[in-house]
Amino acid sequence: MTYPHKKQRHKSLFSPLLRHLACLLLLTAGGQSLAQESDHQYTSEAILAGSRVYVQQCALCHGPQGETVDGINLRLGQFRTARTDDDLVGVISGGAAGGRMPAFTLRPEELNGVIAYIRAGFDPSGVAISIGDPTRGKALFEGKGDCAGCHRINGKGPRTAPDLSEIGILRTPAILQNSMVDPAATLLPINRAVRIVTRREETVFGRRLNEDTYTVQLIDSNEQLRSFVKEDLVSYELSSEPVHQPTTLSSEEVADLVGYLLTLRGLQ
Ligand code: HEC
Ligand code: HEC
Repeated sequence: MTYPHKKQRHKSLFSPLLRHLACLLLLTAGGQSLAQESDHQYTSEAILAGSRVYVQQCALCHGPQGETVDGINLRLGQFRTARTDDDLVGVISGGAAGGRMPAFTLRPEELNGVIAYIRAGFDPSGVAISIGDPTRGKALFEGKGDCAGCHRINGKGPRTAPDLSEIGILRTPAILQNSMVDPAATLLPINRAVRIVTRREETVFGRRLNEDTYTVQLIDSNEQLRSFVKEDLVSYELSSEPVHQPTTLSSEEVADLVGYLLTLRGLQ
């Protein structure tokens, strides 16, 4: 699958820090180039171009807010059968519902743009996350990406990292993407690693599950559920360092993983 918007990453050229600095420089140089530079999402030019295509070709039936066709809300990403960006290409180029939605012959940049506009939630200044193929994403999750080595899904896998069984309901595509691309920015307080020293001089490393004023519950590094009364602790530290490092997977692979994570909606 090769789309014009999928740019190759230049992993070897930039360390994450340098890339970050480069982005900051671009930010001061002008907002537009920032989006262009980021290789995991659609460009702001594509989103803007897509808004024009949408108004001319799609709004007649789907309405300016994308919600006038029954059961579909394009702005909120609620479709009937479509899930991935590939699926959207298929619907737009092939039509739907026995011709009630006609097939469109769009230039590649128009097609790319209108999908970007939909993924950006109809916000021309928004961020459009590319959503790839869940089947390939699952294979990456269990194979090359080594995600299954840490994460548990539907009762399978270790408990030391957050359980992802319902992550597709809990998080937006943008957060899911960022947990791979920019983990430091998306580290949620509840997911921070903890280090506890008890009065009996036991040091426990783990992942916090729950906390109230007096107690804290965690999964320790041996996957045991532990509960501590805070009064009995000598020290209780939260790490601000994410376990995740920014991924070295390609932008296409990240899109596929986002596509897979979005399908994780618990056992239904
Ligand atoms: C003539 C009316 C019409 C126009 C114009 C139109 N659509 Fe549709 N579209 C529909 C109808 C009707 C459906 C619902 C199909 C169904 O019931 O399964 C639909 C469904 C869809 C779906 C969901 C498909 C699925 O199976 O999940 C998407 C996405 C979509 N349209 C995007 C677009 C885009 C983008 C454009 C502009 C390029 C567009 N449509 C133009 C009538 C239209
Ligand atoms: C070495 C263990 C490890 C590996 C490998 C790993 N993760 Fe994680 N992941 C964690 C931990 C721990 C967290 C909690 C946040 C943190 O510390 O970074 C986390 C957080 C997450 C979150 C955010 C969860 C939330 O509550 O929002 C997602 C999504 C995620 N990981 C997906 C993945 C994917 C996809 C892969 C494979 C590409 C992967 N992880 C590989 C340990 C791991």
